[in-house]
Amino acid sequence: MVFNAHGVAAILSTIKGGDFLSSSDLTSEQISALFELASQLKKGERRIDLGNRTLGLIFTKSSTRTRVSFQVAMARLGGQIVDLNPQNTQLGRGEVLQDTARVLSRFCDALAVRTYEQNEILDYANWASIPVINALTDLEHPCQALADFFTMKEAFGRIKGHTLAYVGDGNNVANSLMICGGLLGVNVRVASPKGFEPLPEVVEKARKLSVDGAKIVLTNDPIESVKGADAVYTDVWASMGQEKEKELREKAFKKFCLDKKLFSEASPNAIVLHCLPAHRGEEISNEVMESESSRIFDQAENRLHVQQALLAALLGGL
Ligand code: CP
Ligand code: NVA
Repeated sequence: MVFNAHGVAAILSTIKGGDFLSSSDLTSEQISALFELASQLKKGERRIDLGNRTLGLIFTKSSTRTRVSFQVAMARLGGQIVDLNPQNTQLGRGEVLQDTARVLSRFCDALAVRTYEQNEILDYANWASIPVINALTDLEHPCQALADFFTMKEAFGRIKGHTLAYVGDGNNVANSLMICGGLLGVNVRVASPKGFEPLPEVVEKARKLSVDGAKIVLTNDPIESVKGADAVYTDVWASMGQEKEKELREKAFKKFCLDKKLFSEASPNAIVLHCLPAHRGEEISNEVMESESSRIFDQAENRLHVQQALLAALLGGL
């Protein structure tokens, strides 16, 4: 898709004031326009000043990349963040969400929420009168998927018809990759051990939203998924909240390490992606992580650029 500045602004004006709770909240065209804006912001071709707006961060789980990238993105947009860690607010003492969300809507211009249940973020969106952004739930990680496909686009130019293989747990990251990939016409193959596949309803949703013949394929065989792929992606075996299952998962995922041998099945120009944090020697070998094919740190940086574009669009600064 080729845009002029007016086209990007016109398309992104359609998400002004909205929420971003799932990868399915954006259309292919809106994602492409966000990528165009993110690319301009990254290259320094564009500066946007939102005029002292405030993003509230409500993070119930740990975070390095998401927290810092949102904070820096707001600073670059001439705004700021307020850290609303539930341990330091009345949320931690039981103040109900519907009161908190309405009060915060009087102080802040948007909220980014990281929590466990997707329903909780839906409740925030329901009660808040400002945009709510999913900064990771157990079900999805939609800001991550935007950065991931933006990184793939930087590497290959055009990604429609390309294939991303995800090797590992059918988790929040896999879910958002399937939906966002399908929307962008990218084939997404997910290889997980039996019993750790993505939820059938998410797979069905991703398939329904897929365009240009993109295929969403599940398998229990990592080699089958990686064969000829353009990008190979993995994530931790035990996500936040699953710490007690660590040992059980280590056994189940033993054959799902993205090492040199598995990566050699991919296309010769394939890139390696990982949302981070990584456990070297578990889901990915140190060698693959540090290899020339790795775009993992570009991918982490791109969180900043795509989220800056997203905030500018949701807050209507274009
Ligand atoms: N990838 C990601 O979301 O990292 P953090 O948990 O550090 O935010
Ligand atoms: N699946 C991981 C992603 C961390 C960014 C988790 O939810 O812990």
